[in-house]
Amino acid sequence: MLIGEKQKTKNQNKLNSSSKKLYIQSYGCAMNFSDSEVVASILEKEGYVTTQNSDDANLILINTCSIREKAEQTVRRRIQTFKKKKEKKSNLVIGILGCMAERLKSKFLEEEKLVDLVIGPDAYRDLPKLLKETEEGRKAVNVILSKEETYADINPVRLNSNGVTAFVSIMRGCDNMCSFCVVPFTRGRERSRNPKSILKEVANLNDLGYKEVTLLGQNVDSYLWFGGGAKKDFLKLAGDQSVETTDFSNLLDLIAIANPKVRIRFSTSNPQDMKDSVLKTIAKHPNICNYIHLPVQSGSSKVLELMNRGHTREWYLDRIKAINKYIPECGLSSDFITGFCNETEEDHQLTLSLMETVKYNFSYMFHYSERPNTFAQRKLRDNVPEKVKKRRLQEIIDAQQKHSLYRNQLCLGRNYEVLIEGISKKSNTKYFGRTTQNTVVVFEKQNSKIGEFVNVKINNCSSATLIGEII
Ligand code: SAH
Ligand code: F3S
Repeated sequence: MLIGEKQKTKNQNKLNSSSKKLYIQSYGCAMNFSDSEVVASILEKEGYVTTQNSDDANLILINTCSIREKAEQTVRRRIQTFKKKKEKKSNLVIGILGCMAERLKSKFLEEEKLVDLVIGPDAYRDLPKLLKETEEGRKAVNVILSKEETYADINPVRLNSNGVTAFVSIMRGCDNMCSFCVVPFTRGRERSRNPKSILKEVANLNDLGYKEVTLLGQNVDSYLWFGGGAKKDFLKLAGDQSVETTDFSNLLDLIAIANPKVRIRFSTSNPQDMKDSVLKTIAKHPNICNYIHLPVQSGSSKVLELMNRGHTREWYLDRIKAINKYIPECGLSSDFITGFCNETEEDHQLTLSLMETVKYNFSYMFHYSERPNTFAQRKLRDNVPEKVKKRRLQEIIDAQQKHSLYRNQLCLGRNYEVLIEGISKKSNTKYFGRTTQNTVVVFEKQNSKIGEFVNVKINNCSSATLIGEII
C-alpha cells in the first residue's frame, strides 16, 4: 500500500522547553509511516519532542523509499531544501532512514554531503548511539539487516494521528523476490511479530479510543509465528511438527475476537499466499473489513513469470472468484506495472482484459522503473520504450477510472456504515469516512462526531468518492 507522498509530524507531544526537537518526514509505503512512529518512540525516550516545523528542529530525519527511481529523486530534492538551514545552524543533524539508506549505505554520505546519519530499517534501536557519534562530529552509519528485529516491544508514538485509525506492523521483510522489486534487498528476510505483542498494541489502541487498525506487512498472508526468527530458516526445519504456530487467519481471529468494536484492515496480500482460510475468517467476523488489496502487476502469465510473481493469470482469477464467493461485495484494489521487460502489446491487452473482468474499486498504477541489483536489472532487458510504458500506463489509468465509477454507481441509493475519520477537504460542514469496502464517503456533519460509526445513504458519486447523507 502506498500513501500520498509525504507526511509531516504533528505536535503530538506538548512542545516543552526541550532543546531536542525532531522533525521526521516519511515517504513511500505505510510501513515507512509506521516505522517513523517507532523511531519517534525511541527518540522520545532520549528527550526528543516532535515538531511540524523543520525550522525548529535540531534533528531532521527522512524516512525514504527506493521502490522507483522517481521516489529516490524526490528524497534527494528534499534533502537539498535543508541546505540553508544546515548552513545557519551548525548543530543541525540530518539523518536518512529506510530503504534508500539500506540500498546506498555509506555511499549515501559521499553522494549527499548534507547528510550526517544513515540508518537502515532494522537498525533504529541504534539511533541514540549513532546520534552521540554525530554529536562528536562524526558521520554515522548502521545498515545491518536482521533476522529477528520486529520492534515488538516498542509502543509507537502516533504521529499525525486522527485518533481514529492506526497502523500496526505484524511482520517485516519479504522473501518473495519479485524480479523488479528492491524491497527484499532493503528490508531483508521475512519475519513475523509475536502475536501477543500485536494483541497488546491493538488492545492499547482500543483503550485509547481508536476505532480502526490496519495490520501491515509486505506479505501479510505469509505471516507465521513459530517462536521468532526468519521464516525461511523455520521452513527448512519444518519437519519439526511439534512447534505450535499462528498463521494469518489465526491472528485475524484472535484480534477480531479480542476487539469486537475495532474495525480491522490489512495490507498487503499476495495472490500466491492468499488462502481460503483467511477469506473464511474475514467472512466470519463483522469487524474485519470486506476489502482486499491484491496486487496483480500484470494480466499476462508470461510477464508474471518474468516478474517471478509465483502465480499465473488463472491462479489470480481463481483467487478473485474465491473472494467473491466467501465475501460478496468485497472491495478490491490492485497494483499494476506497465512496460515491464518484454511486455508486448498483447500482454498489455491481457492486463486490460483482466481489469475488465475484475473491475477493481481502485488501483495503484506505475510504469516500470529498473532498480539496481534486482534480478530484472541483472538478467532482463528494460526494452519497452519510455513513451510506450507511459502510453500503456495512461490506458490502464483510464480503464481504472471507468471501473471505479462503475463500482461507485452500484452504491447509489444504498445505505452504508461509515467510520468518520475527519473533516472533508472541500467543505468545513462535511465529514469524510470510509465504508467497510474502503470507499471514501463525504456527507454533511449533522450531529455526528469524528470517530463515530454512522449510517449513510448514498445519493451521488464521482469515480473517487461517494456522496451521501446520514440517516
Ligand atoms: N508487498 C508490497 C509491495 C511493495 S511495492 C506492499 O506491501 O504493498 C508496491 C508496488 O510498487 C508494487 O506492488 C508494484 O506495483 C510497484 N513496484 C515495485 N517495484 C517497482 C518497480 N521497479 N517499478 C515500478 N513499480 C514498482
Ligand atoms: Fe516486492 Fe514482491 Fe515482496 S513486490 S515487497 S518482492 S511481494
